[in-house]
Amino acid sequence: MCLTLPAKVISSDGYRADILASGKKQKVKIGLSEKIQAGDWVLFTGDYLIKKITECEAQEIFNLLGSYKKAKPENLSPDLRNILESASQRDLKKEEIEYLLSLENESDLEAIYSEANIIRKASIKDHICVHGIIEFSNHCRNNCAYCGLRCDNRIVRYRMATEEIVESALQAVNEKGYKILVLQSGEDEYYTEERLIEIIKKIKEKCRAFIYLSIGERPRSVYENLKKTGANGVLYRFETSNPKIYKQLHENDSLSDRLENLKIMKKLGYVISTGMMVGLPGQTVSDLADDIIMMRELGTFMPSFGPFIPTLGTPLADEKNTGAEMILKIIATTRLAMPKARIPVTTAMETIGGEAFRQKAFMAGANSVMFNLTPDKYRENYSIYANKFFDREKRYEKWALFKGELSYQMLENELQIKI
Ligand code: 5AD
Ligand code: SF4
Repeated sequence: MCLTLPAKVISSDGYRADILASGKKQKVKIGLSEKIQAGDWVLFTGDYLIKKITECEAQEIFNLLGSYKKAKPENLSPDLRNILESASQRDLKKEEIEYLLSLENESDLEAIYSEANIIRKASIKDHICVHGIIEFSNHCRNNCAYCGLRCDNRIVRYRMATEEIVESALQAVNEKGYKILVLQSGEDEYYTEERLIEIIKKIKEKCRAFIYLSIGERPRSVYENLKKTGANGVLYRFETSNPKIYKQLHENDSLSDRLENLKIMKKLGYVISTGMMVGLPGQTVSDLADDIIMMRELGTFMPSFGPFIPTLGTPLADEKNTGAEMILKIIATTRLAMPKARIPVTTAMETIGGEAFRQKAFMAGANSVMFNLTPDKYRENYSIYANKFFDREKRYEKWALFKGELSYQMLENELQIKI
């Protein structure tokens, strides 16, 4: 679930070891079958040693957790200094958020990235949380103007059978050690309440996992029953806080309805993941500041945002692409505005910025990743946008995922719920 940290073993008696981590000596318990000796590199979390790694792997993780240079206060403008000093003490105001999003000067940007990184470390430490996403159907009854899955778009459609979905989930959790799954689809009524209940029940019976649903709009009673069955969270973006832009993108739907749905889900006890697309036609920096405030006001546990990517076959195919720099600014500003949030590097971010973007994003305040676990034969067809990034190597799987009670305890403590 969470990124374990590298350390060098100083000594070991087979049961306990003294390790050197971030320059500090500490004692950890060893629960491994393999032998540990002085000079080995290992991963640990809390006071447990998790596994042995190579020096090269340790270096990769250190690189991942690097940081931008902290700016000298005397080099910052008084306004920026004041905002950065306030961020960990009070909610940032709209003007302040807008100010941060408007910064362009290289040294100002580095200053907000490094401050966001410091706040991340102070409020949630170095944990990087890994989510596995299973896209189980690309059928959709909606016609969102930006999306390649919109019902008017002629693409190859697929639906995964209940057993296939359950099998993919069990493999992720029981074999690889995933603890958090996102079950995502277009708005597909083929998956009735009964079918969804069956899927969740079967997954929950055979493994212990936190399940986010990302299935769009359903009646309150359906969400209520899915929650009772074992669903834990919803990933449901409001897409934009600007009602006019929202209306242009969704012909039969209004922003107020979507926000009402999110409030109902929150009341039902779901952990909320929501957010916006960045770079939508007509969207301004003021809108983006409102988006961040909206995520905060909705009590979002996991802000979910990413760049809008113009997609062939949609009415917005010829619109402009979004730059990676704006996304980094939003990550850092969101971290400053919501210090404890779990901020994922989303697939759309990696699609515009490549894998290298991930490390930049972590260093600017992000702290989680989403890995695509959709079976190969379907994945290509979940074409929300073109050239979707896919990480074949999933290097973080082996660092961040470990099995056992301890990893559940960490997750339950963070979420304050039992899984
Ligand atoms: N570019 C980026 N993100 C998109 N989404 C849909 N279409 C696009 C696109 N063209 C996002 C929406 C939706 C999520 C499932 O995918 O934010 O909520
Ligand atoms: Fe359907 Fe979601 Fe795409 Fe809209 S964004 S068309 S609801 S899959």
